[in-house]
Formats: sequence, C-alpha cells, structure tokens
Amino acid sequence: MEDQDHIAFIGVGVMGYAIAGNIRKKMSRKAHLYVNDVNRSAAERFAQEFGSHGSIHVVDSAKEAASHAKVVISIVPGADDVCEVFLDPATGVIAAPKDADRLMLDCSTIDCRSSRTVGEKLKDAGSGTFVDAPVSGGLPGAQAGTLSFLVGHTAPSDSDPMSRRIEAVISMMGSPDKFFWCNSPGAGLAVKIANNYISCTTLLTIAEAMAIGVRSGVDPSLLYNCIKSSTGQSWMCDNVQPVPYVLPHVPSSNDYKPGFKSQMMIKDISLGVEAGREVRIEPKTGETALKVFEQAARDPRCIDRDGSSVYLWLTGDTTEDYAKKREH
Ligand SMILES: *[C@@H]1O[C@H](CO)[C@@H](O)[C@H](O)[C@H]1NC(C)=O
Repeated sequence: MEDQDHIAFIGVGVMGYAIAGNIRKKMSRKAHLYVNDVNRSAAERFAQEFGSHGSIHVVDSAKEAASHAKVVISIVPGADDVCEVFLDPATGVIAAPKDADRLMLDCSTIDCRSSRTVGEKLKDAGSGTFVDAPVSGGLPGAQAGTLSFLVGHTAPSDSDPMSRRIEAVISMMGSPDKFFWCNSPGAGLAVKIANNYISCTTLLTIAEAMAIGVRSGVDPSLLYNCIKSSTGQSWMCDNVQPVPYVLPHVPSSNDYKPGFKSQMMIKDISLGVEAGREVRIEPKTGETALKVFEQAARDPRCIDRDGSSVYLWLTGDTTEDYAKKREH
C-alpha cells in the first residue's frame, strides 16, 4: 500500500480543515481520505466541500481512520485531545490493527513531554512511528499549502526511509524551503514553543512601547518608522503592529480581525512558561505577559479579536476612537 493512496486525517477545526483540503486536492483522484473529528458535522461539511476532488470517508473514530491508512495526520487543540486521539483504548489509533510501518504526524501545538510520552506508548504498542510536526504560517499558509513545519525527526536521507516518507507527506501541506528538521522527538514542539514565547512577549513589549511613545507626544507612524530602522525593529512590529492605521495590512487597521486571537495567546505563552519551569529556566517575561493576556482576553474589546488588541486594553482606547480620529 502506497502512503498516499490512503490517508487518515484527524481534526478538521479551522487549521485542520484547510490543511486537509489541500491534501485532498493533492492526492490522486483514486486515493482515499479518511476524516474524523469529535464534531461529526464538521467532517461532513468537509466531505461536501472537497468531495469533488476524490473520495472522502467520514469515520466515527481515530481508530477506524487509522485502520484504513498507513499515514495518520492529526491537528487538535490540546495535549488531552492528542492523548485521546492516539491512546484511547477503545477509539484511539492504538486500538487499530498493529502496524509498525504506520507514520503518525501530529501537527498540534502541545507540550513536548506529552508528545514524547504519546510517541513512546505508540512505539511500545507496535502502532508505528509518531512524529511531532507543529506548523506555522496560520490559516493563510494552511489554505495556500505553504505552511512551515518544525519536525521532530532527522533530516531526509536515503538511509532513513521514514524521513523520506515524512518529507513526502508534509510536502502536500507546506513549502519544502520552510521545513525544519529538529532531529529528535519533541524537538519540533520545543522550537515552536520557544519561537512563540518570543512573538507573544514581543507583541506586548511593542504595544507598551508604542503606547508610551504616543502618550509622550510622538505621532504613531513616525514612531514606528524610527523603530523600524533602529534596534527595536522586529517581525512582530512590522507585521502585527498593534496601533491602528500605522500599517494598512495588519489586524489593528482592520478592526483587529484575527490573525491570532487573544485567547490563543494564553495557550501559547502558557506552553512557554510551563516549558521554562520544566527545564528550570525562570520564565519571567512570559509570566508577566501571561497575566496581561489573561486579563485582556476577558476584555470585550479584545475577545475574539487579534492578540494585538492588547493595545486597547493597555491604553483604554476603543477602535471607534481611531476610526473617528481618522475621519478628521
Ligand atoms: C460542528 O461543526 C459544524 C459544521 O462545521 C459547526 O457549524 C458547529 O458549530 C460545530 N459544533 C461545535 C460544537 O463546534
């Protein structure tokens, strides 16, 4: 059985839906995709939307999906969900017929330790190879099939057939120039968590610095342009600038449309803070940012909006204030 003739996909939430859609388009028309989600109607909606590209089977459990496929791809919200999908004795992948050749790629963002434990249990049970492969690039990357992948496995080489199989599968979802081979189980997640620790805490730092500069009498666009050419420059400042109307194509200038929701910031910083404690590095910046985002995520001006709306929480402003100013 060729890997790509039968693929199981678990979790068609926002990201999973878009990723699985790309996979269905890139599989051969004759190939079969088995889709499972705790919300069966989400899987059915998916089958309706993408069924014209080839067969899609909506199945009732991860076990059933894995019974039909040598490749299992999953993307679910948290570590508990990953455990349930793979290890549940009645409905999990572990309950499917044993197959040491099975490749399981988990694209969820969870803590390293849980991911490693799941992988070890699956290996011990003879269920196959479990690899952490968290993604970045957000919904646009998922839809375009240009995600970047952080893979908890060694780089592809002909002496390791598994590495080539992983490469072939992730090439259906992302851009090969953005595949990072992190060498060992859990390491893909460790990289993702470290990176997101920076992006989340930096966003708060930028929001505070912009608010301080603006209150001190500087025009926000002038302030941004000076920072952009100085040592304070960062990817977050240039692409998720939190002050409205400084840059046109960022969430803050579009009513803080996410992007990356305020509530999601909490999950990512928490993972970083917990990882720090686990390895005895005091995550001071993360702890502070976590407290702030926990409060901001309860603020009606921030709920369900992009995380950069923490700027409104800090300043007490509303988006209407900026819209009004703009009209004058
Ligand atoms: C289940 O999926 C359907 C279809 O995508 C969606 O409308 C509904 O809100 C989902 N239910 C839950 C509880 O997420």
